[in-house]
Amino acid sequence: MHHSAVPEGVIARMREIRRDLHRHPELAFQEERTAARIMAELEALGIACDYGGVGSGVIGRLGPSQPVTTIALRADMDALPGEESTQLPFASQEPGRMHACGHDAHVAMVLGAAHLLAAAPPVVGVRLVFQPAEEKGGGARTVIAAGALEGVSAIFGAHVTHHYRVGQIMVAAGVITAQSDRFRIDVRGRGGHGARPHEATDAVVITGFLITALQTLVSREIDPVHPSVVTIGQVQAGSAPNVIAETAVLEGSIRTTLPAVRDQLHAGLRRMARALGDLHGAEVEVTLQSGYPPVVNTAAEARLAERAARQVVGDAGLMALDHPSMGSEDFAYYLERIPGCYVRFGARPEGSPYVPLHSPAFDIDEGVLPVGAAFFEAVVREAERSPLQGAPPA
Ligand code: NI
Repeated sequence: MHHSAVPEGVIARMREIRRDLHRHPELAFQEERTAARIMAELEALGIACDYGGVGSGVIGRLGPSQPVTTIALRADMDALPGEESTQLPFASQEPGRMHACGHDAHVAMVLGAAHLLAAAPPVVGVRLVFQPAEEKGGGARTVIAAGALEGVSAIFGAHVTHHYRVGQIMVAAGVITAQSDRFRIDVRGRGGHGARPHEATDAVVITGFLITALQTLVSREIDPVHPSVVTIGQVQAGSAPNVIAETAVLEGSIRTTLPAVRDQLHAGLRRMARALGDLHGAEVEVTLQSGYPPVVNTAAEARLAERAARQVVGDAGLMALDHPSMGSEDFAYYLERIPGCYVRFGARPEGSPYVPLHSPAFDIDEGVLPVGAAFFEAVVREAERSPLQGAPPA
Protein backbone atom coordinates (compact mmCIF):
# COMPACT_ATOMS: atom_id res chain seq x y z
CA MET A 1 0.00 0.00 0.00
CA HIS A 2 1.34 3.41 -0.95
CA HIS A 3 1.44 5.66 2.11
CA SER A 4 -0.97 8.11 0.51
CA ALA A 5 -3.53 5.28 0.48
CA VAL A 6 -3.59 4.92 4.28
CA PRO A 7 -7.18 5.81 5.31
CA GLU A 8 -7.57 9.26 6.86
CA GLY A 9 -9.17 7.71 9.95
CA VAL A 10 -6.08 5.57 10.61
CA ILE A 11 -3.78 8.57 10.13
CA ALA A 12 -5.83 10.65 12.57
CA ARG A 13 -5.77 7.79 15.07
CA MET A 14 -1.98 7.44 14.84
CA ARG A 15 -1.53 11.18 15.29
CA GLU A 16 -3.76 11.15 18.36
CA ILE A 17 -1.87 8.16 19.86
CA ARG A 18 1.53 9.70 19.14
CA ARG A 19 0.53 13.01 20.74
CA ASP A 20 -0.98 11.28 23.76
CA LEU A 21 2.23 9.29 24.35
CA HIS A 22 4.30 12.40 23.68
CA ARG A 23 2.44 14.27 26.44
CA HIS A 24 3.02 11.41 28.89
CA PRO A 25 6.51 10.04 28.29
CA GLU A 26 7.70 7.17 30.50
CA LEU A 27 11.29 6.14 31.13
CA ALA A 28 12.84 2.72 30.51
CA PHE A 29 11.08 -0.15 32.32
CA GLN A 30 8.36 2.21 33.63
CA GLU A 31 6.15 2.25 30.52
CA GLU A 32 2.91 1.34 32.32
CA ARG A 33 0.59 3.98 30.90
CA THR A 34 2.06 3.46 27.44
CA ALA A 35 1.42 -0.29 27.69
CA ALA A 36 -2.17 0.33 28.79
CA ARG A 37 -2.75 2.57 25.79
CA ILE A 38 -1.30 -0.05 23.43
CA MET A 39 -3.41 -2.84 24.92
CA ALA A 40 -6.59 -0.78 24.75
CA GLU A 41 -5.91 -0.09 21.08
CA LEU A 42 -5.17 -3.75 20.27
CA GLU A 43 -8.19 -5.01 22.19
CA ALA A 44 -10.45 -2.57 20.35
CA LEU A 45 -9.18 -4.14 17.11
CA GLY A 46 -9.84 -7.65 18.43
CA ILE A 47 -6.12 -8.46 18.55
CA ALA A 48 -5.07 -10.78 21.37
CA CYS A 49 -2.19 -9.49 23.48
CA ASP A 50 -0.14 -10.33 26.58
CA TYR A 51 1.41 -8.00 29.09
CA GLY A 52 3.58 -9.12 31.97
CA GLY A 53 3.24 -5.94 34.01
CA VAL A 54 5.51 -2.93 34.52
CA GLY A 55 8.95 -3.53 33.07
CA SER A 56 7.70 -5.91 30.40
CA GLY A 57 6.42 -5.32 26.89
CA VAL A 58 3.11 -5.88 25.13
CA ILE A 59 2.99 -8.70 22.61
CA GLY A 60 0.09 -8.79 20.15
CA ARG A 61 -0.81 -11.75 17.92
CA LEU A 62 -2.66 -11.70 14.60
CA GLY A 63 -3.21 -14.15 11.78
CA PRO A 64 -4.17 -17.83 11.52
CA SER A 65 -3.92 -20.09 14.56
CA GLN A 66 -1.45 -22.47 12.84
CA PRO A 67 0.55 -20.10 10.61
CA VAL A 68 3.10 -21.48 8.15
CA THR A 69 5.30 -18.52 8.93
CA THR A 70 5.17 -15.73 11.48
CA ILE A 71 6.87 -12.38 11.27
CA ALA A 72 7.35 -9.83 14.01
CA LEU A 73 7.01 -6.04 13.86
CA ARG A 74 8.76 -4.23 16.66
CA ALA A 75 8.27 -0.83 18.29
CA ASP A 76 10.17 0.55 21.28
CA MET A 77 8.16 2.41 23.94
CA ASP A 78 10.45 4.38 26.22
CA ALA A 79 11.30 8.07 26.55
CA LEU A 80 14.45 9.79 27.79
CA PRO A 81 15.37 11.88 30.81
CA GLY A 82 15.53 15.61 29.99
CA GLU A 83 13.36 18.71 29.63
CA GLU A 84 11.56 19.19 26.33
CA SER A 85 12.17 22.52 24.58
CA THR A 86 9.88 22.17 21.53
CA GLN A 87 6.94 24.34 22.75
CA LEU A 88 4.62 21.91 20.94
CA PRO A 89 0.97 22.06 22.09
CA PHE A 90 1.38 18.38 23.04
CA ALA A 91 4.82 18.79 24.64
CA SER A 92 5.70 16.59 27.61
CA GLN A 93 3.66 17.22 30.74
CA GLU A 94 6.05 15.11 32.80
CA PRO A 95 8.92 17.11 34.31
CA GLY A 96 12.33 15.73 33.36
CA ARG A 97 11.08 13.29 30.72
CA MET A 98 10.67 13.57 27.00
CA HIS A 99 10.08 11.47 23.88
CA ALA A 100 13.30 12.80 22.35
CA CYS A 101 13.97 9.68 20.28
CA GLY A 102 10.64 9.34 18.48
CA HIS A 103 9.59 6.08 20.15
CA ASP A 104 6.11 7.62 20.55
CA ALA A 105 5.93 7.64 16.73
CA HIS A 106 7.22 4.05 16.51
CA VAL A 107 4.38 2.82 18.75
CA ALA A 108 1.81 4.81 16.76
CA MET A 109 3.10 3.40 13.45
CA VAL A 110 2.98 -0.26 14.53
CA LEU A 111 -0.52 0.35 15.93
CA GLY A 112 -1.40 1.97 12.59
CA ALA A 113 -0.17 -1.18 10.86
CA ALA A 114 -2.34 -3.20 13.25
CA HIS A 115 -5.37 -1.19 12.06
CA LEU A 116 -4.49 -1.87 8.41
CA LEU A 117 -3.87 -5.58 9.07
CA ALA A 118 -7.02 -6.02 11.15
CA ALA A 119 -9.03 -4.64 8.21
CA ALA A 120 -7.71 -7.43 5.93
CA PRO A 121 -6.45 -10.24 8.19
CA PRO A 122 -3.07 -11.64 7.10
CA VAL A 123 -2.60 -15.27 6.07
CA VAL A 124 0.79 -15.33 7.83
CA GLY A 125 1.18 -15.00 11.56
CA VAL A 126 2.05 -11.49 12.78
CA ARG A 127 3.61 -10.79 16.17
CA LEU A 128 3.43 -7.18 17.31
CA VAL A 129 6.30 -6.60 19.71
CA PHE A 130 6.11 -3.45 21.83
CA GLN A 131 9.25 -3.50 23.93
CA PRO A 132 10.27 -1.41 26.93
CA ALA A 133 13.64 0.18 27.59
CA GLU A 134 15.44 0.51 24.29
CA GLU A 135 17.39 3.47 25.64
CA LYS A 136 18.65 1.84 28.76
CA GLY A 137 18.88 -1.72 29.87
CA GLY A 138 18.18 -3.59 26.65
CA GLY A 139 14.44 -4.14 26.99
CA ALA A 140 14.57 -6.33 23.87
CA ARG A 141 15.97 -9.08 26.08
CA THR A 142 12.96 -8.95 28.40
CA VAL A 143 10.45 -9.51 25.58
CA ILE A 144 12.66 -12.23 24.08
CA ALA A 145 12.70 -13.95 27.48
CA ALA A 146 8.90 -13.64 27.56
CA GLY A 147 8.67 -15.61 24.32
CA ALA A 148 8.12 -12.78 21.82
CA LEU A 149 10.17 -14.58 19.16
CA GLU A 150 8.78 -18.09 19.64
CA GLY A 151 7.84 -19.42 16.22
CA VAL A 152 8.89 -16.17 14.54
CA SER A 153 10.81 -16.44 11.25
CA ALA A 154 11.94 -12.83 10.92
CA ILE A 155 11.61 -9.47 12.65
CA PHE A 156 11.34 -5.96 11.27
CA GLY A 157 11.85 -2.65 13.05
CA ALA A 158 12.47 0.97 12.21
CA HIS A 159 13.61 4.31 13.55
CA VAL A 160 12.61 7.84 12.61
CA THR A 161 15.43 10.20 11.68
CA HIS A 162 16.08 13.74 10.48
CA HIS A 163 18.72 12.42 8.09
CA TYR A 164 15.92 11.97 5.57
CA ARG A 165 12.61 13.63 4.70
CA VAL A 166 9.13 12.16 4.86
CA GLY A 167 8.70 9.80 1.93
CA GLN A 168 12.23 8.46 2.20
CA ILE A 169 13.08 5.06 3.70
CA MET A 170 16.62 3.80 4.20
CA VAL A 171 16.99 0.06 3.66
CA ALA A 172 20.33 -1.78 3.67
CA ALA A 173 21.75 -5.22 4.33
CA GLY A 174 24.70 -5.80 6.65
CA VAL A 175 25.97 -3.63 9.52
CA ILE A 176 23.64 -0.73 10.34
CA THR A 177 24.74 0.33 13.84
CA ALA A 178 27.84 -0.17 15.95
CA GLN A 179 28.69 -2.34 18.93
CA SER A 180 28.80 -0.09 21.99
CA ASP A 181 30.89 -0.78 25.10
CA ARG A 182 31.58 1.29 28.19
CA PHE A 183 34.81 1.52 30.08
CA ARG A 184 35.95 2.86 33.42
CA ILE A 185 39.54 3.49 34.46
CA ASP A 186 40.33 3.88 38.16
CA VAL A 187 43.65 5.59 38.87
CA ARG A 188 45.01 5.21 42.41
CA GLY A 189 48.09 7.31 43.27
CA ARG A 190 49.03 8.85 46.57
CA GLY A 191 47.46 12.07 47.80
CA GLY A 192 49.47 14.90 49.29
CA HIS A 193 50.06 18.61 49.84
CA GLY A 194 49.97 20.74 46.69
CA ALA A 195 53.35 22.19 47.62
CA ARG A 196 55.07 18.82 48.11
CA PRO A 197 54.71 16.76 44.89
CA HIS A 198 57.73 14.59 45.72
CA GLU A 199 55.76 13.04 48.58
CA ALA A 200 52.76 12.14 46.38
CA THR A 201 51.72 10.31 43.19
CA ASP A 202 49.46 12.68 41.31
CA ALA A 203 46.39 10.93 39.89
CA VAL A 204 45.45 14.07 37.92
CA VAL A 205 48.71 14.15 35.95
CA ILE A 206 48.41 10.43 35.15
CA THR A 207 44.83 11.07 34.03
CA GLY A 208 46.09 13.78 31.67
CA PHE A 209 48.55 11.36 30.08
CA LEU A 210 45.84 8.72 29.83
CA ILE A 211 43.42 11.05 28.05
CA THR A 212 46.06 11.97 25.48
CA ALA A 213 47.44 8.46 25.04
CA LEU A 214 43.99 6.93 24.48
CA GLN A 215 43.44 9.28 21.51
CA THR A 216 46.11 7.32 19.65
CA LEU A 217 44.25 4.00 19.92
CA VAL A 218 41.91 4.81 17.03
CA SER A 219 44.22 7.21 15.16
CA ARG A 220 47.41 5.07 15.26
CA GLU A 221 46.44 1.46 15.93
CA ILE A 222 43.20 0.73 14.08
CA ASP A 223 42.95 0.24 10.33
CA PRO A 224 41.35 3.53 9.19
CA VAL A 225 38.95 1.78 6.80
CA HIS A 226 37.16 0.25 9.79
CA PRO A 227 35.20 2.87 11.74
CA SER A 228 35.70 3.08 15.51
CA VAL A 229 35.38 5.63 18.29
CA VAL A 230 36.87 5.98 21.76
CA THR A 231 35.23 8.80 23.75
CA ILE A 232 36.10 9.77 27.31
CA GLY A 233 32.91 11.41 28.48
CA GLN A 234 33.48 11.73 32.19
CA VAL A 235 36.49 12.53 34.37
CA GLN A 236 36.43 12.94 38.11
CA ALA A 237 39.39 13.79 40.35
CA GLY A 238 40.46 15.97 43.21
CA SER A 239 38.78 17.88 45.98
CA ALA A 240 40.74 21.14 46.45
CA PRO A 241 43.15 23.36 44.44
CA ASN A 242 46.01 22.83 46.87
CA VAL A 243 45.62 19.08 47.38
CA ILE A 244 47.24 16.49 45.12
CA ALA A 245 44.51 14.04 44.12
CA GLU A 246 44.99 10.46 45.23
CA THR A 247 42.40 8.96 42.88
CA ALA A 248 40.81 9.71 39.56
CA VAL A 249 38.09 8.03 37.52
CA LEU A 250 37.70 8.21 33.74
CA GLU A 251 34.64 6.81 32.02
CA GLY A 252 33.96 6.46 28.34
CA SER A 253 32.41 4.71 25.40
CA ILE A 254 33.86 2.53 22.64
CA ARG A 255 32.05 2.05 19.32
CA THR A 256 33.06 -0.51 16.72
CA THR A 257 31.52 -2.39 13.81
CA LEU A 258 33.90 -5.40 13.69
CA PRO A 259 34.61 -7.88 16.50
CA ALA A 260 38.34 -7.89 15.66
CA VAL A 261 38.56 -4.10 15.99
CA ARG A 262 36.64 -4.26 19.23
CA ASP A 263 39.07 -6.84 20.66
CA GLN A 264 42.00 -4.71 19.53
CA LEU A 265 40.62 -1.59 21.23
CA HIS A 266 39.86 -3.42 24.47
CA ALA A 267 43.37 -4.88 24.56
CA GLY A 268 44.96 -1.54 23.63
CA LEU A 269 43.04 0.30 26.31
CA ARG A 270 44.17 -2.17 28.97
CA ARG A 271 47.76 -2.08 27.73
CA MET A 272 48.02 1.72 27.74
CA ALA A 273 46.36 2.09 31.11
CA ARG A 274 48.64 -0.52 32.67
CA ALA A 275 51.76 1.01 31.07
CA LEU A 276 50.93 4.54 32.23
CA GLY A 277 50.26 3.28 35.72
CA ASP A 278 53.67 1.55 35.74
CA LEU A 279 55.36 4.60 34.24
CA HIS A 280 54.16 6.85 37.05
CA GLY A 281 54.03 4.38 39.89
CA ALA A 282 50.26 4.32 40.30
CA GLU A 283 47.70 1.53 40.33
CA VAL A 284 45.39 1.61 37.35
CA GLU A 285 42.38 -0.64 36.96
CA VAL A 286 40.30 -1.00 33.78
CA THR A 287 36.70 -2.22 33.75
CA LEU A 288 35.02 -2.94 30.42
CA GLN A 289 31.27 -3.43 30.13
CA SER A 290 29.59 -4.72 26.99
CA GLY A 291 26.81 -2.60 25.55
CA TYR A 292 24.49 -3.38 22.65
CA PRO A 293 25.84 -5.60 19.87
CA PRO A 294 25.81 -4.26 16.29
CA VAL A 295 22.59 -4.35 14.27
CA VAL A 296 23.32 -6.58 11.27
CA ASN A 297 20.47 -6.89 8.75
CA THR A 298 20.23 -10.23 6.97
CA ALA A 299 20.25 -10.25 3.16
CA ALA A 300 16.89 -11.90 2.35
CA GLU A 301 14.99 -9.81 4.90
CA ALA A 302 16.66 -6.61 3.66
CA ARG A 303 15.48 -7.51 0.15
CA LEU A 304 11.95 -8.08 1.45
CA ALA A 305 12.05 -4.75 3.32
CA GLU A 306 13.28 -3.07 0.16
CA ARG A 307 10.36 -4.44 -1.86
CA ALA A 308 7.97 -3.27 0.86
CA ALA A 309 9.57 0.19 0.99
CA ARG A 310 9.39 0.54 -2.79
CA GLN A 311 5.63 -0.04 -2.68
CA VAL A 312 5.24 2.68 -0.06
CA VAL A 313 7.58 5.41 -1.30
CA GLY A 314 8.57 4.33 -4.83
CA ASP A 315 12.08 4.06 -6.23
CA ALA A 316 12.80 7.73 -5.57
CA GLY A 317 12.11 7.34 -1.86
CA LEU A 318 14.38 4.36 -1.36
CA MET A 319 17.64 5.45 0.28
CA ALA A 320 20.90 3.51 0.53
CA LEU A 321 23.19 3.54 3.56
CA ASP A 322 26.55 5.20 2.88
CA HIS A 323 28.15 3.86 6.04
CA PRO A 324 27.01 2.35 9.34
CA SER A 325 25.93 4.61 12.18
CA MET A 326 28.24 4.60 15.20
CA GLY A 327 25.13 4.77 17.36
CA SER A 328 23.72 1.59 18.85
CA GLU A 329 20.30 -0.01 19.11
CA ASP A 330 19.01 -2.99 21.07
CA PHE A 331 17.21 -4.36 17.99
CA ALA A 332 20.55 -6.15 17.65
CA TYR A 333 19.45 -8.66 20.33
CA TYR A 334 16.63 -9.91 18.09
CA LEU A 335 18.97 -10.20 15.14
CA GLU A 336 21.35 -12.29 17.21
CA ARG A 337 18.58 -14.90 17.32
CA ILE A 338 16.57 -14.62 14.12
CA PRO A 339 16.92 -12.93 10.71
CA GLY A 340 15.45 -9.49 10.19
CA CYS A 341 15.84 -5.95 9.00
CA TYR A 342 15.98 -2.57 10.69
CA VAL A 343 15.22 0.44 8.50
CA ARG A 344 15.03 4.20 8.93
CA PHE A 345 12.10 6.48 8.12
CA GLY A 346 12.79 10.09 7.08
CA ALA A 347 10.94 12.39 9.49
CA ARG A 348 12.60 15.79 9.24
CA PRO A 349 9.89 18.47 9.19
CA GLU A 350 9.73 20.69 6.09
CA GLY A 351 11.79 23.83 6.60
CA SER A 352 13.27 22.55 9.85
CA PRO A 353 17.01 22.40 10.44
CA TYR A 354 18.52 19.00 11.20
CA VAL A 355 17.90 18.12 14.83
CA PRO A 356 19.62 15.02 16.23
CA LEU A 357 17.80 12.28 18.11
CA HIS A 358 17.93 12.81 21.90
CA SER A 359 17.94 16.62 21.48
CA PRO A 360 15.43 18.49 23.72
CA ALA A 361 14.23 20.16 20.49
CA PHE A 362 13.59 16.89 18.62
CA ASP A 363 10.28 16.65 16.77
CA ILE A 364 9.04 14.73 13.75
CA ASP A 365 7.00 15.52 10.67
CA GLU A 366 3.87 13.50 11.43
CA GLY A 367 3.64 12.71 7.72
CA VAL A 368 5.99 9.85 8.62
CA LEU A 369 3.19 8.04 10.50
CA PRO A 370 1.34 6.72 7.40
CA VAL A 371 4.70 5.93 5.77
CA GLY A 372 5.64 3.75 8.74
CA ALA A 373 2.25 2.04 9.03
CA ALA A 374 2.13 1.33 5.29
CA PHE A 375 5.69 0.00 5.35
CA PHE A 376 4.97 -2.43 8.19
CA GLU A 377 1.79 -3.58 6.46
CA ALA A 378 3.67 -4.01 3.18
CA VAL A 379 6.29 -6.14 4.96
CA VAL A 380 3.51 -8.51 6.07
CA ARG A 381 1.97 -8.62 2.58
CA GLU A 382 5.38 -9.34 1.07
CA ALA A 383 5.88 -12.17 3.56
CA GLU A 384 2.49 -13.57 2.50
CA ARG A 385 3.64 -13.58 -1.12
CA SER A 386 7.06 -15.13 -0.49
CA PRO A 387 7.33 -16.79 2.92
CA LEU A 388 10.73 -16.38 4.50
CA GLN A 389 12.91 -19.39 5.11
CA GLY A 390 13.56 -18.73 8.75
CA ALA A 391 13.08 -20.65 11.96
CA PRO A 392 10.14 -23.09 11.79
CA PRO A 393 7.15 -22.21 13.97
CA ALA A 394 7.50 -23.59 17.49
NI1 NI B 1 15.60 5.57 19.62
